[in-house]
Amino acid sequence: MSAELVCFNPGCPERFPIDAVLYECPRCGRLLEARYDFAPLKPAALTAMWDGRLLSREPLDVSGVWRFRDLLPFLGDTKHIVTLQEGNTPLLDAPGAAAYARLDHIQFKHQGYNPSASFKDNGMTAGIAQARALGMKRVACVSTGNTSASMAAYAAAGGLQAVIFLPYGKIAYGKLAQALEYGALTIQVEANFDQILALVRRLAEELGIYLLNSINPFRIEGQKTIAIEMLDQRGWQVPDWLVLPGGNLGNVSALGKGLRELKEVGVIDRLPKLAVVQAAGAAPFFHLFQSGTGGAIQNVENPETLATAIRIGAPVSWEKALREVQSSGGVVESVTEQEIADAKAIIGRSGIGCEPASAASLAGARKLCSRGVIAEDADVVGVLTGHLLKDPDYVYRYHTGRIETPGGDRLTSTLGNQPVVMPNDPGKIAEFLLTRA
Ligand code: F0G
Repeated sequence: MSAELVCFNPGCPERFPIDAVLYECPRCGRLLEARYDFAPLKPAALTAMWDGRLLSREPLDVSGVWRFRDLLPFLGDTKHIVTLQEGNTPLLDAPGAAAYARLDHIQFKHQGYNPSASFKDNGMTAGIAQARALGMKRVACVSTGNTSASMAAYAAAGGLQAVIFLPYGKIAYGKLAQALEYGALTIQVEANFDQILALVRRLAEELGIYLLNSINPFRIEGQKTIAIEMLDQRGWQVPDWLVLPGGNLGNVSALGKGLRELKEVGVIDRLPKLAVVQAAGAAPFFHLFQSGTGGAIQNVENPETLATAIRIGAPVSWEKALREVQSSGGVVESVTEQEIADAKAIIGRSGIGCEPASAASLAGARKLCSRGVIAEDADVVGVLTGHLLKDPDYVYRYHTGRIETPGGDRLTSTLGNQPVVMPNDPGKIAEFLLTRA
């Protein structure tokens, strides 16, 4: 099947070979995307083949990304693939969370069940495969923590050196710990994500290091399978809304592409509306959407949020994301620190749990429902992007009433759950338990 890189700008005719080491169009500066000729694919045969692979023990069939490899045929040889059995993440009903959002029903696609505990693994298996196919020895990224954890894991498994750039002091410890444990060369820079991305793009070009941020089109290819797997789990029943957090906006670009392509090959006949939710202190995409979508995005100079994963003020994929949101008839919302914190605790009380950025999905769904944008009987899927244990410090501070916004305002621990210290005395403990029955 033919595969090439094309400039995603519809007005630009540029096309490049699929093995070009390029992240943006040399003519117009826009991001690139992989494009294939899907005409030979027949929807019924395709879904039957994907079902058949569920019975296979072949590593590529067991992967929740490569099981759908027919829709990401960019590799000449699958020997370059490194799989850690990514994907295969559950789609969970969460009645307590639905009640909180005043929805009849919500399901969560929980990407925190991935090998490195975030949605980044779906894209990283594809990005690392391309790095190996190109003969790269070193890969690099800047990250708010999850991309770096994932890249470190896949680079280690694939025998590549991982070079990671992090905003110093601004990533959750669980994520930093992962990068160290997986053996990545870890550089903490005294700057924010947006500043470091500019720096890393320069360094990668100068030093010939392969860049695995979401500007890499192959990351997007892997990540689009999140939408494909979710629809497979629903028997190809398209939800009304797909709600997800937005930071650098690679994920909404990826999911939007996956959905468009499923429609193109005829596996689904309509698109869900995409709702992107940003933290109020790091919400340039929300402001763009509010002000009408004609102009360019106004970057936020000093983005701030306790949901450090989405502490981004200059999202590189905003144009792709805008196209996906608009063509789906979707919206962009923003939520406060308090709304994120409480939605997160509700997801925890559902026995599910997630990291702060992920909870923006539920907080956003609640707000959109209260505004009448999402109907209360709508069929809604929220994406939980990362695992609860990514940021235990946040969890502890919330439950012990010690959580403050970056501006120093104390948040209310609405669902706080203080641990209790007791002496080693069965009588006293029994007495205490009786008061809590
Ligand atoms: N949720 C989590 C847990 C994330 O780690 C990220 C992004 C997002 C949501 C937003 O996704 O950037 O595609 O819009 N994390 C990146 C990182 C930036 O470096 O790990 P996005």
